[in-house]
Amino acid sequence: MDEVLDRDLANPSSLHGPGREARHLLTRVRRRIGELLGAARDEVVFTGNGSEANLLALRGAAGALPPGRRHVLVTPVEHPSVLDPLEDLGASGQIDLETLPVDGQGRVEVRDLEDRLRPETGLISMMLANNELGTLQPVEELVALARPRGILVHCDAVQAVGKIALPRLALDADLVTVSPHKFGGPRGVGILVKRGGVNLATPLSPRRQEQGLRGGTEDVVAAVGAAAALETVSRDLDQESARLRRLQVRLFQELPARFPGIVLHTPPANTVPTVVNLSFPTIPGAWLVAALDRLGVAVSHGSACSSLAAVPSHVLEAVGAGSLARCAVRISMGRGTSEEHVEDFMRRLRVVLVETSGSHFLFASQNGCNQ
Ligand SMILES: Cc1ncc(COP(=O)(O)O)c(C=O)c1O
Repeated sequence: MDEVLDRDLANPSSLHGPGREARHLLTRVRRRIGELLGAARDEVVFTGNGSEANLLALRGAAGALPPGRRHVLVTPVEHPSVLDPLEDLGASGQIDLETLPVDGQGRVEVRDLEDRLRPETGLISMMLANNELGTLQPVEELVALARPRGILVHCDAVQAVGKIALPRLALDADLVTVSPHKFGGPRGVGILVKRGGVNLATPLSPRRQEQGLRGGTEDVVAAVGAAAALETVSRDLDQESARLRRLQVRLFQELPARFPGIVLHTPPANTVPTVVNLSFPTIPGAWLVAALDRLGVAVSHGSACSSLAAVPSHVLEAVGAGSLARCAVRISMGRGTSEEHVEDFMRRLRVVLVETSGSHFLFASQNGCNQ
């Protein structure tokens, strides 16, 4: 990115030399990102972030559904950037939105999915990995069911890309959302993989760039950063994924042993290795976040985007966590997380719990986190 900034590139739509140079670079990184994600160059659409890629995919796909195919399925544990646009479209009567049931781990049963498919179903949105619990969804099975029925599949793969080797069919979904800042890339750029032949009625205007789906001068530097990050994480993905899994398993084993009363919400298997969601039934999650923060540990309560609002996590509610939805805290690990960090986290958590005992912040244990 530094190198590209130094080159002082022009607008990639300009005809002059610096413009052509920018356009050439953008084409190169688009092709490289496509190769790494198993897509053609023209299937890679740059957006401002993952949320915008979700909005473009869903408003765009729903807006282009033919009459008679406007039944749309979604899981209740999606990111708000998926749920909000679909709920808006449902509320205005543009689509007939139905929410799929999930089990206690936040996973959709393939049988439930199959049961809900109708001749009118035109679009299904299912994330690959859940951002709060880490749970992996059966996106491969979904694609296999949807394709012969002509149903479009959107997969929010934001929490999976760069964390696990991606299931081939999941990447074959018609629309796949990727967010480079989740794997070391810059903020301010997102990626929507849109398979050839998928028609989107873009909600955005102007729409002179990104194959008519978006408008405005492209951020070549951010696109270069996105490609560099994807290239870097792809190099040792299996190794890094296995290392993180060992840290996650250690937390799964040691947290219940060292902290009786703790509840682990992340399932022990079929998850990304980067997330452990936990709660203590008498401690409000926001309070635990603040107490750990004072000791230099950054964890989150719900998803980062909604944790400033004093609302219980919709994901924890969907998995039937009840009042614990207000207590849940998410530990996220990544390339920078070491064995020492994990040990240190548990030591600091102990300090917080000792400090907390008897505090007026505690909820009465018989009520749990229900205030
Ligand atoms: C599953 C999921 N989808 C979408 C997003 C939105 O991505 P961005 O922050 O790039 O808008 C996030 C962000 O946390 C996420 O976790």
